[in-house]
Amino acid sequence: MRRPLVAGNWKLNGSRAANGALLRALVSGCRDDAGREIVVCPPFVYLPDAAALLGGSTIGLGAQDAAAESAGAFTGEISAAMLADVGCRYVIVGHSERRALYGECDDMVARKFAAVLAAGLVPILCVGETLEERERDQTEAVVERQLRAVLGRVAASAWQGAVVAYEPVWAIGTGRTATPQQAQAVHAFIRGQFATLDARMAGQLRILYGGSVKGANAAALFGMPDIDGGLVGGASLDAQDFILICDAASGSAT
Ligand code: PGA
Repeated sequence: MRRPLVAGNWKLNGSRAANGALLRALVSGCRDDAGREIVVCPPFVYLPDAAALLGGSTIGLGAQDAAAESAGAFTGEISAAMLADVGCRYVIVGHSERRALYGECDDMVARKFAAVLAAGLVPILCVGETLEERERDQTEAVVERQLRAVLGRVAASAWQGAVVAYEPVWAIGTGRTATPQQAQAVHAFIRGQFATLDARMAGQLRILYGGSVKGANAAALFGMPDIDGGLVGGASLDAQDFILICDAASGSAT
């Protein structure tokens, strides 16, 4: 039984005032449901405030990135241990925006994934193909390469609790969602990759879908057998829509 997870990736959005309003609305509006998990990932500087606002609620806290290194002369970086120190439990790793806009290569993503695990946090590893790659029928090859890079550094047996997010780049922020069938096919492929390494772990691995998830399409996506929740960008900034998405994850456990 995998517990569905909905994680909100706020990206470069928010302010003290806006975050306070959003988090208060989520805390009061999200049904208490032990059957699914909710996480929000605000920008770094707002994490301590968010931890205080979420205190006592069942909504968890995550960060959008972490350094590959643990300490030292790395100006501007934030370590996974620091994130744990301010109350984070989850860290998004290898988001396609970081890969495409900030030059994060597969190896860097793998090092970040290992650093997050070493700090006792849960990495949400993002993988996914561009539109060009999909049109060239390279979806599986790209996703496999992205996974193998991390598996080369951290063996499947050490992924206990880690989360994978399949996020087709062409569906992120575009309003163009993968159909439930398209997403399910890639999720099944990802689970199959793990199954060849560690069948038990593959059965437990939570695989989220990300890319224009909304209240209106979440239930159909989460209803697929290998989709265990969502990584939500734009809609996570709208309390009402995010609550609808979280409700769609209730009872979709497989
Ligand atoms: P989106 O973003 O929901 O706005 O498409 C998803 C993501 O980038 O994680």
